[in-house]
Amino acid sequence: MGQPTPARTRVTGSAAAEGTGTDWWRSAVIYQVYVRSFADGDGDGTGDLAGVRARLPYLAQLGVNALWFNPWYRSPMKDGGYDVADYRAVDPAFGTLAEAEKLIAEARQLGIRTIIDIVPNHVSDQHTWFRAALAGGPERELFHFRPGRGEHGELPPNSWVSQFGGPAWTRVGEGEWYLHLFAPEQPDLNWAHPVVREEHEEVLRFWFERGVAGVRIDSAAMAAKDPVLPDFVEDRDPHPYVDRDELHDIYRSWRRVADEYGGVFVGEVWLPDTERFVRYLRPDELHTAFNFSFLSCPWDPVRLRESIDVTLAEHAPVGAPATWVLCNHDVTRTVTRYGRADTGFDFATKAFGTPTDLALGTRRARAAALLSLALPGAVYLYQGEELGLPEADIPRDRIQDPMYFRSGGTDPGRDGCRVPLPWAAAEPYAGFGPGGEPGGEPWLPQPAGWAAYAADLQADDPGSMLSLYRTAVRLRSTEPGFGDGPLSWLAAPASVLSFARADGLICVVNLGPEAADLPAHSRLLLASGPLDDDGRLPEDTAAWLRA
Ligand code: NOJ
Repeated sequence: MGQPTPARTRVTGSAAAEGTGTDWWRSAVIYQVYVRSFADGDGDGTGDLAGVRARLPYLAQLGVNALWFNPWYRSPMKDGGYDVADYRAVDPAFGTLAEAEKLIAEARQLGIRTIIDIVPNHVSDQHTWFRAALAGGPERELFHFRPGRGEHGELPPNSWVSQFGGPAWTRVGEGEWYLHLFAPEQPDLNWAHPVVREEHEEVLRFWFERGVAGVRIDSAAMAAKDPVLPDFVEDRDPHPYVDRDELHDIYRSWRRVADEYGGVFVGEVWLPDTERFVRYLRPDELHTAFNFSFLSCPWDPVRLRESIDVTLAEHAPVGAPATWVLCNHDVTRTVTRYGRADTGFDFATKAFGTPTDLALGTRRARAAALLSLALPGAVYLYQGEELGLPEADIPRDRIQDPMYFRSGGTDPGRDGCRVPLPWAAAEPYAGFGPGGEPGGEPWLPQPAGWAAYAADLQADDPGSMLSLYRTAVRLRSTEPGFGDGPLSWLAAPASVLSFARADGLICVVNLGPEAADLPAHSRLLLASGPLDDDGRLPEDTAAWLRA
């Protein structure tokens, strides 16, 4: 640690400023919109496309290059829209297809591209295919139906467990069972069937033709299954449903579709094996994938540096840019996570009542924002991250997430990071609804004190999280050296991350208790908190410098 060890990524010559070229995604800042909780345009308590359209100027001012929308399709919302009933329709709670088209066009006029979310692993049990399958139609082959085990077929066909807990199989009456790696309302598709492949490629075309620039692929490493559907055996290779080789052919064929439109992919690929992970990023497969090792990494200089080094080293041979993600709609919000004894993220250890120091977490989250925005590649921001929102405690009788229910009430679930945003401190429900009208109660309760995080208050406060993000994202696009390109570590104490980018750009993050000297520089571009009286960088503070 601490010695200069260059870690080089592919140099393309494109920088964060070049947000308009075909390589825009290599350096972009992409803002994740969880539509249901972003802004409510019609006052029914649920966020919608009208709300997003009304807030496009806010997003443009934040300076983001693209929006990734969680699924906005027609859905019974048994898993926040990841149970899709119709890929070609927008859920009426969110708006209409025509409105989505307008939103895509309006955003583009502001220089903001649109990324949609496609869920290949499963559909809703209300999808026409599954309804036809239950009625005994040939559509049964598009899913995984199997007879049960046991004398009367009363036991699930195999030992697989749902990602949300409980068995991954549900029996239809006294008949066969169907597979669902998530909730029972999310039957898994059979990707060995050509109709499943054809349909998804048509859906991709449908949305590319409406102007979307990219597609996030949900649970991208889980769609293919061992056709035998064998029992799960720990460490057996290949895994019966994770990271199977068949997937690569599927994504190569998706890539050919995307290339016709200049579209790009970002895969949700949770894989501990980094060599396997980057196979999805070969030049004829996905353009990018979320970097969950960085997202899950504790606030620790050694672990962070290792995560950065491994990320860059693994991406370099395939020529794909890294992505940097601090949080999303599935994980504990950053200011909360960094304010806890265990600052890493792990689905398995989430618990109610974990003690949290929000002031500490917020200081670290501010430093982490500058760290991630200075690293080579693209950055994802999750709505509310720019407001420094903490994870909310949702009263148990208001929780909606199936993760909570399927864990038997031990896992708090993911609603705590999905609370409707506070826009205007003085308005009802912190301005989540349309201005000037009372507006319905938000679908998830906002905790006491939520208005203190309102965007309108923060916009006027130069010391706020929003002001920090606005300044950082703007500098990232106007100053040279950010985005895709090389990184080299600078000599620094063990608890300090210090690296140089192109054009003399330097990022320093101090994670230790001793204030750190800044490297020689001509300009301090931005710091996540005040320097001390001697111009040194205090604990849990980051700075951007020009050498
Ligand atoms: C990953 C999504 O991010 C999550 O929200 C969802 O529950 C599962 N995939 C199932 O679609």
